Amino acid sequence: MSQDHKTARVLDPCSGSRMMWFDRGHHDAIFGDRRSETISVTDRSHGREGTRTIHVHPDALMDFRALPFGDATFRLVAFDPPHLVRAGPRSWLAAKYGKLGSDWRDDLRQGFAECFRVLHPDGVLVFKWNETQVKLAEVLQLSPYPPPVRQHQRQEGRHALAGVHEAAAMSAGDRWKLPDGREAIEMAGSQGGQLRLSVIVPGWPFPTPPEIVARRLCTRLPSRYLHGQVPQEEEAPF
Ligand SMILES: C[S@@+](CC[C@H](N)C(=O)[O-])C[C@H]1O[C@@H](n2cnc3c(N)ncnc32)[C@H](O)[C@@H]1O
Repeated sequence: MSQDHKTARVLDPCSGSRMMWFDRGHHDAIFGDRRSETISVTDRSHGREGTRTIHVHPDALMDFRALPFGDATFRLVAFDPPHLVRAGPRSWLAAKYGKLGSDWRDDLRQGFAECFRVLHPDGVLVFKWNETQVKLAEVLQLSPYPPPVRQHQRQEGRHALAGVHEAAAMSAGDRWKLPDGREAIEMAGSQGGQLRLSVIVPGWPFPTPPEIVARRLCTRLPSRYLHGQVPQEEEAPF
């Protein structure tokens, strides 16, 4: 059973059937969606016909474009909006993931703005996207902050990205190489000769606890985490 919004620290504002959750009734989370329904549709997605049933029953009906929560309420927001612009109205994929409307750029822009608004300044936004129909770079331009880290499944076109809120995002994007060769992202709070760095761990989409490292021992790397510039070459191990 999930908590009410006065105590929950995690928000999933478009949670669908909660497939990405290990615990679909997590005690510390609020599950939202704009619909509440149980639907059975024909599934042809695996080459054979059959009827499948999907259950979407959020804790609260909500619209990610206008979230019913105060500023800085949550420590983690998991934003997994629909990614399809084309899908048959009675298709399994549309039933499961929903479909973007004709104003999808405005909708997602408002969604990003709202998710960051309700996120605590030390919070993390996890954004999930499948780019089979709309490229990730086009969608990231709709976010007010660039994501510092990502995890990518190339074959499936799926991405999971983690973004930090204002304070950290202001300086996130400056990348450094540490003396031992590890790469890191500069976080807010670096001063003088000391850098506050969050080490990039391949396959792990969250900023690690910042380490303080002497600036003179580090080498600045060209930033690739700017709006619309998505690194193409890296492959995360999972
Ligand atoms: C990609 S699915 C989410 C899948 C989910 N993360 C999972 O693990 O099963 C997107 C969901 O967003 C919902 N949705 C679409 N537009 C919305 C909006 N404006 N506000 C809230 N939810 C919305 C859809 O109903 C759909 O359930």
